Amino acid sequence: MNFDQLDWRILDRLRTHFLSGRFPPGGYWLGTDDLAQYNQTFGERIGWKWDAVLRELAALGWHPPQGVTRVIDWGCGSGVAGRRVLAAHRSLQTLALLDSSHLAVEYSRKRCATDFPGVTTEIFQGADATGGLLLISHVWNELDPAQRESLLRLILSAAAVIWVEPGTHLVARELQAARESLRQTFDVVAPCTHRAACGLLAEGMERHWCHHFADPPPEAFTTGDWARFAERAGIDLRALPYSYLVLEQPAPVPRQPTGDGWERLIGRARIHKPMARVFSCGSEGAREIEVTRRHLPEWYRALKRESAPTRVRWTYDGNRVTGAEPTIQPQQD
Ligand SMILES: C[S@@+](CC[C@H](N)C(=O)[O-])C[C@H]1O[C@@H](n2cnc3c(N)ncnc32)[C@H](O)[C@@H]1O
Repeated sequence: MNFDQLDWRILDRLRTHFLSGRFPPGGYWLGTDDLAQYNQTFGERIGWKWDAVLRELAALGWHPPQGVTRVIDWGCGSGVAGRRVLAAHRSLQTLALLDSSHLAVEYSRKRCATDFPGVTTEIFQGADATGGLLLISHVWNELDPAQRESLLRLILSAAAVIWVEPGTHLVARELQAARESLRQTFDVVAPCTHRAACGLLAEGMERHWCHHFADPPPEAFTTGDWARFAERAGIDLRALPYSYLVLEQPAPVPRQPTGDGWERLIGRARIHKPMARVFSCGSEGAREIEVTRRHLPEWYRALKRESAPTRVRWTYDGNRVTGAEPTIQPQQD
């Protein structure tokens, strides 16, 4: 399907469920059309968040742990997460699908068979993710407390987990809380540079939340389709906030810069004339720091353009940054 075939009766109904957080007991997928409509629009926007996460993992040199060939898409919907991950990691050979809706499982299975003919699909039975790469995407707020508990238990059995959720204050902080219960078992690959307690769960940090912004692809702005969709749906295409967590069973040798002063930037920088203020989080905790235009002009500019590296090792004088690794090369404006 394409943008000429959008059915706003379906899209408005789905969006009402997503925004209100009220979900009918039998689920909201009433037919295959619902999944196709979602996949073309809301699902594709979620795909852009997955692209951002997978790009960051690639930059870290991360790949599924050795021997892992099975990916499990839990709460698959139209299967966006599974397909994005299969495209990024060709070593994966089996896609296991789970959703409370059999329509969703069937839709995802067919899409996978078309896009990845060499990949085997199966229905995930739900109890044990041992040896698998578990994907969770935009499902947490649809689960009741018992379902959340059982998902957390399932996570513990996985070899690795990539979990992407909306970047709202509520869900992002719930993800931070889930991380607390999982960090004893797993290495935290991203977004954190460490597996110590979450700095944003410390006292006094209640109004902050661990969120990031994904860039939509150029076609979101170069064709009229997305602009018309966004206007009708009342969505700001440029603001694509997400929260996420990537875990893996401890590797014998750490594969990424961890500890040693590495920090992860959170959210967007606030730009003032002489400085950028941005939240930075490391094993010592999270705090707002100041990058002045005078001391680090390239970093200041990169923060302003939202093109700064996400992981950085600062040197400080109080909260004011005096140096940064990596260095950023001067660029023409
Ligand atoms: C908003 S959709 C997200 C779909 C997909 N993961 C994505 O990111 O596009 C949430 C999905 O979770 C499924 N779901 C809700 N509760 C579930 C449960 N208890 N067990 C399995 N799937 C569930 C819904 O049927 C729906 O397909």
